[in-house]
Amino acid sequence: MGKKILLEHIDVPGINTLEVYRSKGGYKSVEKALKEMTPDAVVEEVKKSGLRGRGGAGFPTGMKWSFLDKSTDKPRYLVCNADESEPGTFKDRYLMQHIPHALIEGMITSSYALGARTSYIYVRGEMMHVIRILEKAIKEAYAAGFLGEKILGSSYSLDLYVQPGGGAYICGEETALLESLEGKRGNPRNKPPFPAVSGLYGCPTVVNNVETIADVPWIVNNGGDAYAAIGVGKSTGTKLISACGNINKPGVYEIELGVPVEEFIYSDEYCGGISNGRELKAVVAGGSSVPILPKDLILKTANGENRLMTYESLSDGGFATGTMLGSGGFIVFDDQQCIVRNLWNFTRFYHHESCGQCSPCREGTGWMEKVLHRIEHGHGQIKDIDLLVNIAKNIEGKTICPLGDAAAWPVASAIRHFRSEFEEHVKNPESCCKKHLHREIAHAH
Ligand SMILES: Cc1cc2nc3c(=O)[nH]c(=O)nc-3n(C[C@H](O)[C@H](O)[C@H](O)COP(=O)(O)O)c2cc1C
Repeated sequence: MGKKILLEHIDVPGINTLEVYRSKGGYKSVEKALKEMTPDAVVEEVKKSGLRGRGGAGFPTGMKWSFLDKSTDKPRYLVCNADESEPGTFKDRYLMQHIPHALIEGMITSSYALGARTSYIYVRGEMMHVIRILEKAIKEAYAAGFLGEKILGSSYSLDLYVQPGGGAYICGEETALLESLEGKRGNPRNKPPFPAVSGLYGCPTVVNNVETIADVPWIVNNGGDAYAAIGVGKSTGTKLISACGNINKPGVYEIELGVPVEEFIYSDEYCGGISNGRELKAVVAGGSSVPILPKDLILKTANGENRLMTYESLSDGGFATGTMLGSGGFIVFDDQQCIVRNLWNFTRFYHHESCGQCSPCREGTGWMEKVLHRIEHGHGQIKDIDLLVNIAKNIEGKTICPLGDAAAWPVASAIRHFRSEFEEHVKNPESCCKKHLHREIAHAH
């Protein structure tokens, strides 16, 4: 069994309550930070830990914190990104639902480090049950003196609020999230300025993912060096992976970064192998936005080395033969899955969720969806395949926020690795599409 930092006590009855959470060592980091450490000392430990943002991009957290503009008298804010709308990603809601105090403790310790006196948890609006759980836990934390005026008798005070999200995937992009938190439509902002200089209400702001913030208490309690000793190279610590698709044991797993992908898929400790005795066909390793890889490339790099669950190993080979760890949304496809159909489904999502600000994304996602629809439904032409590649190329890197890239990468990678499947759909639509139509009709009945 690998090291557990976040889910060690997940099965303890009542761990969602403050009393049981504290009996397992909860809230010690607040006492330690406020009584024994300066805010800068906390930032220093997070830097030493090598912790990288768990929201998708993997940016070093300590470095992000050190960019926070401290030269102004304006208030500073910490905003937790709990929007979690990326298809295949469901780790944050699992943590918040079962151990809400892990996030609240992290919010207090991190807010202290950043000098924030008001902080927010922005939760995907559809997750009302999670919002209620968090609000109840926050009430408990206020009653116990961990939130509010002069926490634990110190000079530090913090108010923490939960904000239901605006109900759109784009509200997870950090600047769209800030717009939405300010009560406006969730459209991404042009950068610079970055939130560290001008974020919420024009004030210096750090936006971090749920898992990132929940890792901070362990780092404060045990030291940055101890955290950095877990994992491999620049992929330090543990990572929550939400595994789904055609596997025997879908769920949320905490892995030590560095577990071989093959072990993650086939061992009983994790996914337990491919369901129904089928063969592995492909994996989307980090949420629907990252490039899809076929079996041979997800298990081994192009150099024949075992692919590991780390930021570096998964991206080895660049986009030609690699992918990204992303948010840790691990989607497994068996040999019965149709790549064209799944891609059409992803692309429908991105088209629906594009905020419409940038023409390449607004128009391009719609075009890709239409072309994929016609290929999947037996009306495609061979030239449509290169048309898709071309549209994807004209979206990538040409938008205000990375939603455009997120829509383009799955299309480009699916055609790069499964071109023959697209060609087969065009040449012989009966072979695959008809099977799906039969299945749809059977489901409808
Ligand atoms: C369209 C889009 C949706 C996103 N959704 C989320 C999300 O739900 N949760 C999240 O933590 N980050 C999300 N991100 C990434 C955030 O913009 C940001 O990088 C992240 O919250 C930073 O936190 P971290 O440094 O702790 O990873 C999204 C980005 C894009 C472009």
